[in-house]
Formats: sequence, C-alpha cells, structure tokens
Amino acid sequence: MSLKTGDQITLTIHDLAFGGEGVGRVNDFVVFVPFVITGETVEVQLTEVKKNFARAKLLRVITPSPERVTPECGYFTQCGGCQYQHIDYTAQLRFKHKQISDLFERIGKIAPDRIAPVLPCPSPYGYRNRIMIRSQWNGPAKKLEIGFVGVDNKYVVNVTECKIAEPALNEQITHVRANPPPKGGVKVVLRVQPEGWSVPKDSFFQNNFFLLPKLVETVKNCLQASGAKHLIDLYCGVGFFGIEAADVVDSFVGVEYDQLAIKAARENAASRKISNGEFISAKSEEALPELLKKFPTDQTAVILDPPRKGCWPSLLELLRNTRPAQVIYVSCHPATMARDLNILCADGVFELARVQPLDMFPQTQHVECVADLRRRN
Ligand SMILES: C[S@@+](CC[C@H](N)C(=O)[O-])C[C@H]1O[C@@H](n2cnc3c(N)ncnc32)[C@H](O)[C@@H]1O
Repeated sequence: MSLKTGDQITLTIHDLAFGGEGVGRVNDFVVFVPFVITGETVEVQLTEVKKNFARAKLLRVITPSPERVTPECGYFTQCGGCQYQHIDYTAQLRFKHKQISDLFERIGKIAPDRIAPVLPCPSPYGYRNRIMIRSQWNGPAKKLEIGFVGVDNKYVVNVTECKIAEPALNEQITHVRANPPPKGGVKVVLRVQPEGWSVPKDSFFQNNFFLLPKLVETVKNCLQASGAKHLIDLYCGVGFFGIEAADVVDSFVGVEYDQLAIKAARENAASRKISNGEFISAKSEEALPELLKKFPTDQTAVILDPPRKGCWPSLLELLRNTRPAQVIYVSCHPATMARDLNILCADGVFELARVQPLDMFPQTQHVECVADLRRRN
C-alpha cells in the first residue's frame, strides 16, 4: 500500500514515543500521531510522508482509551507547551516511566529494572514558576499575537492564561497583554521568585517548587547511601544542591560559569550560615581537574546537572580516569543523559545503582531524572 500526504487512514496506537507522539503502523510502516493514547483506534490524515515513516494529524478518536480525560486548557493541541493533558495523570507517569526505560535501554544500555517509578508532582496543574511569553506580528490578520510558540514550532499562539503556570504568573500574563511590546519578536520571562533564595534575573532556578523537596531528598539520599564526605557540585547555578546537601557532607565546592549566579550562591550560603562550602565561577570542564586533586577521590561525590546538551566529552573522560566514589547525574533531558551515562559506565568504570525519575513537568513530554553512579572497585 503506498501512502501519500492527505490520505485519511484508520490506525491502532500501540505506543507513546518519547516526545509525546503516538505510534501506529500500516503493515510495517510507522505513522506518528500527536494527542492519542496507547490502545486507541483513531482516524488520522497524513501530513508528511517520508521513506521510513509518516506524520499525521488526529481527525477522530474511534475507540477512546479509558485513560482519556478532558484537557483543562482551551489552547491544548494548538499551543506547543503541553502534550499530555488528554491523559489521566497516573497514566502519564506510567507512560513516562516506559519511555525513559526504553530510551535508557536503547541509548544507555541500561537495564530497565534500574529505573524507579516516576515520582508524581503534588500539583499536576498550576505548578510552573517560570514561563516565557513571546509576541509575534501576524501579518495576514494584522494583529500582534502574545502567547506561546504553537505546536507547529513556528507561530505564536495568542493565550490569555496558562493552566500549568502558577496563578501569580497568570496575573502577570494579563499585565503583559495589557501593556504589549510595540513590535513582534519580543520575549518576556515571567517568574515567581523562590522564597529565601537570591536568584538573578537571567540565572537558572528549578521551575517547579511543588516537587523540589523530593528532588532534594533524592539527591541527599544518594549522597548518604554512598557516605561521600566531599561534594563537587558542577553546573551549580545559585548553589542549590550544594547548599541543600551541606549538612550531609564535610565540605563542598560549587562551580558555575554564570558569574551573577555564583555571587548569588555565596549570598544564599551566607544567609543560611553555611560555612563548609565555596563557590567558583568557571566552566565545569575547566575547573574539575584541580578540584579532583583537592579531595580524596574515594570519599568524593560529583553532582552533574548540565544544560540540555549534556556534559563535555573531556569532563566525562576525566571522571572515568580519576574515578571519584560517586557521580550523581541530574537532568531534564533523558537522551543526552543516557548518552553520558553510557560513556561513564563503559568498560565497567562506573556502575549505575538507580535512576529516579521525577515529574517536574506534568502535562508535558518532559521529565527530570536523577542517576546514582558508583565507581567499581
Ligand atoms: C540545569 S541548570 C542547573 C543549576 C543548578 N544545579 C540548580 O539546580 O539550580 C545548569 C546550569 O549550568 C550552567 N552551565 C552551563 N554550562 C556550563 C559550564 N560549561 N560550566 C559551568 N556551568 C555551566 C548554567 O548557567 C546553569 O546554571
């Protein structure tokens, strides 16, 4: 059967791929469809046909999954922010667990039994403490759109509220809309400041306060389980993990290349009267060689919390050569994380004890993971 763009076909969905698209098949030919659920039979229209796969848009759900729910947001399926509002929250956690297990097995060669169940967010809506509002001039309609990038990843969808954002941010959206930027192409970051933390305007802070205590608990449990006495907190931002874990280690060092974040990290430690740590403004890959000489490697843990692109190869190579007792890898990008874990564990240098996923981003395709790696003796 030869398929072409525009064809309408009926599919049964047998998986939800990482990123949120459902996977259906016509004989052996794969068709990706957004906003569906495993087990559903759906009618779709092909929008793109390639040599090995096609993409389609959902026209009609013929047999709905018992896990299908009504999305809370009226912009869902137009706005590019959320992929899973049509799926019951408990089922979202199960799907994310399967996606991570599959991805880690394929890219990281990690056995699925190492992946713990996903920890849920106590507030599956109204949780985001930071959003980016964009404006774009809509030529044909002769009006300014103010909102989020749409599912087409091209045009801004006009929004007046965001159901996954904290209520305080929705008040700010109203303010931005009432005082629109004069031209298109403008980005405005709206943020709720974390209580008790100094965070410069453009510096990073974890974007879900509701699940943050569990993220801290997970990292501290890893440290306590290994008994590491010294901590090197790489990509430390405003000092978050080092400061939170200061009471379970003898000493720590935080490294971050955003100089304003490092200044804030020092203030955050001082305001808590934490004196067993220091903060260095540097690139992690450049600072690490000296830091690994400073502490006895068999008593040292290294936290890696890199940006989405993952760690520099030279940094991973150095960890493989110097072999600190523990590496705790924190990431919101499972694909680059799996790639880096595979490098660290190659030839049995490190062993992966466990991966704890945390649903820091309900309703979306994203998920945070914490991996606990121990050096092999
Ligand atoms: C995902 S954030 C984590 C921040 C922090 N661990 C936290 O939980 O708040 C990644 C941080 O790495 C910093 N960063 C990116 N590349 C870096 C590099 N090569 N060396 C040091 N810091 C870097 C970014 O500025 C950002 O603050």
